[in-house]
Amino acid sequence: MIHRRPLGKPWQEELALEDGRRLWLRPILPADAEPLRQAFTLLTPEEVRMRFLHPLTELTPAMARRLTHIDPRTQFALVLAEPEPPGEALVGGVVRAAIDTGTKRADFAILVSRFLAHQGLGTLLMRQMLRWAKLKRLDAVYGDVLQENLQMLNLAQQLGFRRLAADEPGRVRIEKALVERG
Ligand SMILES: CC(C)(COP(=O)(O)OP(=O)(O)OC[C@H]1O[C@@H](n2cnc3c(N)ncnc32)[C@H](O)[C@@H]1OP(=O)(O)O)[C@@H](O)C(=O)NCCC(=O)NCCS
Repeated sequence: MIHRRPLGKPWQEELALEDGRRLWLRPILPADAEPLRQAFTLLTPEEVRMRFLHPLTELTPAMARRLTHIDPRTQFALVLAEPEPPGEALVGGVVRAAIDTGTKRADFAILVSRFLAHQGLGTLLMRQMLRWAKLKRLDAVYGDVLQENLQMLNLAQQLGFRRLAADEPGRVRIEKALVERG
């Protein structure tokens, strides 16, 4: 059970985990670029492959910059971070989504570090991302997942995602429709 306490600003809350750790759930900031690069070095090759769908050896400064500079009109990204000033805080999880230009659909991605996993944080991040997508009145959100990623496939199924064929072999597209069609 995660205890959640709003911090009075949009999308910001303090989380108290069962193991006693405290985290801030908050929008990603440009100051998170360097902590994100550091967090990347702590990931296992498996975590990297599951998140980025292919091996990646480094998060370059340019990539980190792109991942931390969000256009709020079309993009959304929350981090799970230590309750310290941004830039000093370690980042242990990220959920992000971006609207495909000219559509009402968004592509999402998520990562919760193995140091924080299996406590419901992945589910919480996904629910927040879905809340954003509904506020944006999107039709659907989708993401591509490796077919062996049962953890993510199960999590998505519990949140009402359906499985579709992906464009590339070895992947599954998961998609959740957000509007009733009549
Ligand atoms: C997939 C991923 C996001 C899941 O994150 P997570 O924080 O572990 O997710 P949750 O804790 O919400 O759920 C995971 C499991 O823990 C269980 N769980 C949730 N809260 C729990 C608790 N308090 N105690 C014990 N188990 C718990 C869930 O029931 C779920 O179990 P299941 O897989 O048997 O259904 C994470 O493993 C990850 O980042 N993987 C690498 C990147 C990736 O795969 N990204 C997806 C492609 S974009």
